[in-house]
Amino acid sequence: MDTYRIIITKRDTRAFLDRPVPVETRRRILQAGRMAGSSKNSQPCRFVVLEDPRVREEFAACGDFAAWLPQAPFVVAIAVVGGTRGEFDAGRAAQNMMITAWAEKVASCPVSLHRQECAVEVLRLPPDARVPIAIGFGYRAKPAKHAPEAARLGWDEYVRINRWQP
Ligand SMILES: Cc1cc2nc3c(=O)[nH]c(=O)nc-3n(C[C@H](O)[C@H](O)[C@H](O)COP(=O)(O)O)c2cc1C
Repeated sequence: MDTYRIIITKRDTRAFLDRPVPVETRRRILQAGRMAGSSKNSQPCRFVVLEDPRVREEFAACGDFAAWLPQAPFVVAIAVVGGTRGEFDAGRAAQNMMITAWAEKVASCPVSLHRQECAVEVLRLPPDARVPIAIGFGYRAKPAKHAPEAARLGWDEYVRINRWQP
């Protein structure tokens, strides 16, 4: 697939085969996140790879829609440190990681941690840190439900020229 096809066919996936993500692919995923730009090159993101099943369970309990996360073969929490907000930087890192993964047929889904204090405590992060997003990665257990276009609002809703109203 070329880059454009990789980007537009990426769908979020929460059910994975019981098949590990190879070490080299994991490294590329993390490297893609590391190389994402950040505001003023402040580099506020840190990636915590969750391997211990107990830590995964405790972490998943910090989100309202994260019950599937502990079963993902590769789980990465994206933390921001240093008291910066860093949500946009975390988003850039997250998308870099997910697109790099999908280029190697590794599917993924982002996860919100609704209880931030819980996430910070479980990961033993510094107190001023936040966890804007975590990602579960793995090989897709079943095909995507919809064609990529089907799940999005129409082009004219998304794209405006000059002003909101013509
Ligand atoms: C910021 C953000 C937070 C999300 N949080 C969750 C979550 O907590 N649990 C979950 O299962 N999916 C989560 N998702 C995945 C969305 O539900 C998904 O991106 C959306 O339904 C579109 O999916 P699609 O690309 O497969 O169409 C999140 C997505 C984003 C961008």
